[in-house]
Parts: sequence; structure tokens; C-alpha cells
Amino acid sequence: MAIEKVLHMNGGTGETSYANNSTFQKNAILNTKHIMEECIINLYHKTLPECLKVADLGCSSGPNTLMVASTVVKVVDAISQTLNQDQPPMIQFFLNDLYSNDFNTIFESLPDFYKSLEEEIGHKIGPCFISGTPGTFYGRLFPNHSIHFFHSSSTLHWLSQIPKELSSEIGEPMNKEAIYVTKASPPGVQKAYTLQFKRDLKMFLRSRSEELLPDGAMLLSFIISDQHLDVINGWEVVGSVLNEMVSEVSK
Ligand SMILES: C[S@@+](CC[C@H](N)C(=O)[O-])C[C@H]1O[C@@H](n2cnc3c(N)ncnc32)[C@H](O)[C@@H]1O
Repeated sequence: MAIEKVLHMNGGTGETSYANNSTFQKNAILNTKHIMEECIINLYHKTLPECLKVADLGCSSGPNTLMVASTVVKVVDAISQTLNQDQPPMIQFFLNDLYSNDFNTIFESLPDFYKSLEEEIGHKIGPCFISGTPGTFYGRLFPNHSIHFFHSSSTLHWLSQIPKELSSEIGEPMNKEAIYVTKASPPGVQKAYTLQFKRDLKMFLRSRSEELLPDGAMLLSFIISDQHLDVINGWEVVGSVLNEMVSEVSK
């Protein structure tokens, strides 16, 4: 069965839910919040959109899900105050995750979300349209040139599939006694995961490049390598994917 149909974080708000086990990921969003704010300010001034279109890819379901939306609304509200705009700007916000993500819990929380945002800001917010976009980000999710800003945090280390190179010629899994890549894994295992990550990252970037509007921006934060493991340097892999894509364009 395709991974994208079955994978999801634990829904709801119980003890084992993602909602109650996502502090590490929350800190990743908080640590990059100033970059997000800078991106939104820059692109707002450059494009002065009537409706700012933002998508959070791999949003999950829990307290982190609406953190990005909340930051965007606050930044846009502050900009419009300084520009003395009489019409508050519109924001369209797309929450993407895999099909079986617990979108219901998110949607149920929206009235409280809007209310607490307005309490925090101290006045009514401009029109903000939040909707769900189920599907895999390793493919197209939006029409051509339709999104100003993509955000995706703690997501790109989820691969689209188990690398096909992991099966040995006799059909046995090469990494059968480990649940992740370790120093003791056979040499082919690191290579197989690296190749799959490269294929997936290219697919992700190609899709977003079709969907981004001119002057659009994208903020990605993801776990890249474990320094204690002494495995392949993830930055080198990302760098090589970007180089390959640039040389494909300039051919
Ligand atoms: C660790 S959670 C991070 C959630 C959220 N961004 C945060 O920072 O708390 C990873 C999320 O990515 C989603 N995800 C994984 N692969 C995906 C894919 N191919 N397309 C869309 N979402 C995906 C998972 O379902 C999960 O909700």
C-alpha cells in the first residue's frame, strides 16, 4: 500500500497524540520564526498582494499546526497598520498533510483560534480563509504560480517510500536488524537512503517551483543529520541536489 495513504501522526489530544508530543518540532518553528517574519515582510512590500496566499506543508494536527498561520496573520496585520491601509489585507492559508491526517481536530479548533488571535492583537483581524489541502508534497498540490509563501518544518526527513535499493538481489531487506541507518549498517543502506532523499527532495522542489508566484519565498526546516552518528553529511546532499537542478536548468 502506498505510504502516503496510511502514514499520519497520532490524532486527537490524548496522551500519545502528536498534539501532546511535539515540543521538539515546536522549538524548530520558534527558532525560525524571525526568518518567516522577514520573508513575509519582504514579499509583502515587493508584491503588495490583495490576498496573500500561504501554505504550510506537513502541518500535522496539534498546537504547532496553527502557529505558522498565527505568525503570518500578526505580521500582515502589523504591516497593514504601518501602511495605514483602510482595507485589511486578505490571507488565504492552506494546511497540507497526508490524507489520513486528523484535519477534523484542526477545523474544530478554528473558531477558538480566530477568537484568541483577535484578543491577542486587540482588534478584528482581516479576512483569513483557512482550508485543508490533503495530499503528498512529493508532487503537485496547487495550481501554477498560485502561492506566495511556502513553509514546511520537521517534514522533509519523511521519505516518500522505502528505498527500492534496500532490497538485496535475493529480495531480503539489507538493513533488517536496524530500524534506522547506523554505523554498523551495510554500506548500501546509507547510499539507498541518500538516493531516495535526493529523488524526493528534487520532486518536492520541482513541484514548489511550479506553484510559487514570482517573488514568492519558501522556508524549509528539517533534520539533516545526527552529528553523533558519523553518517553522510546531509548539507552535502542538499547542496548536490541544488547543484544538479541548477545545471539541469542551464542546459
Ligand atoms: C514531525 S511532523 C511535523 C508537523 C509540523 N510541521 C510541526 O512542525 O509540528 C511531520 C508531518 O509531515 C507529514 N508528512 C510526511 N510526509 C508527507 C508528505 N509526503 N506530504 C505531506 N505531508 C507529509 C506527516 O504526516 C506529519 O504530520
